[in-house]
Amino acid sequence: MKEGQIIERFVTKDGKEVIIRIPKMKDARMLLAYFNSLIKENAPIMFNKKLNLKEVRGRLKSGLEKFKRRMFLQLVVEYKGKIIACGDIEKGKCAKSHICRLGISVHKDFRGRGIGKELMRLLLKFARTFLKTEMVVLSVYANNKVAIHLYKKYGFRRYGYLKGGIKKRGRYFDEILMWRPLRENYEVS
Ligand SMILES: CC(C)(COP(=O)(O)OP(=O)(O)OC[C@H]1O[C@@H](n2cnc3c(N)ncnc32)[C@H](O)[C@@H]1OP(=O)(O)O)[C@@H](O)C(=O)NCCC(=O)NCCS
Repeated sequence: MKEGQIIERFVTKDGKEVIIRIPKMKDARMLLAYFNSLIKENAPIMFNKKLNLKEVRGRLKSGLEKFKRRMFLQLVVEYKGKIIACGDIEKGKCAKSHICRLGISVHKDFRGRGIGKELMRLLLKFARTFLKTEMVVLSVYANNKVAIHLYKKYGFRRYGYLKGGIKKRGRYFDEILMWRPLRENYEVS
């Protein structure tokens, strides 16, 4: 796989054809607009302040370097020249190199159309085949019912609960920690 490579064209529940691909350096402006739209709506993600172009370029560059070393993989979803969703997996280091961490988000205008599920399916596949990890972990706001529903659907189980584990704009939120193995035969309910 390489920078900018199209992974698939996916048709959303409401009939829009979107492109799911590996990002490239030229995406910086589009990614900036996307991340800042999530910050603006105060979406339940771990970022809590707006980024600038330099920061996004820096993140993209380091992400693509880690991608080349098979330590990290990001997928962006593009529709009509805009990024409307993204997800990533990052492999741990040393004694944690059998585990990866997963994160996913979809622009508010495109939620509930199956993009989150498709990103999840692809990220789980690449966690096994590209990063060669054995287990996936994630963290989610305890009140984020839609995300928790998606994660459970894809076989994630809760292994921890941290009261006040997230502090955003001065407010505390409880955090749920979830995991799933990547065995082929792991039963997904
Ligand atoms: C959580 C998120 C990634 C899900 O992505 P999505 O594209 O909206 O999800 P999908 O359309 O693939 O739907 C996933 C499941 O959630 C359900 N769902 C989606 N939106 C829903 C809503 N508003 N209310 C209830 N259920 C909903 C879907 O029906 C589907 O379940 P099903 O297959 O059992 O019917 C997306 O809502 C999001 O980005 N939210 C804000 C950021 C966020 O919370 N990120 C996760 C941080 S941990």
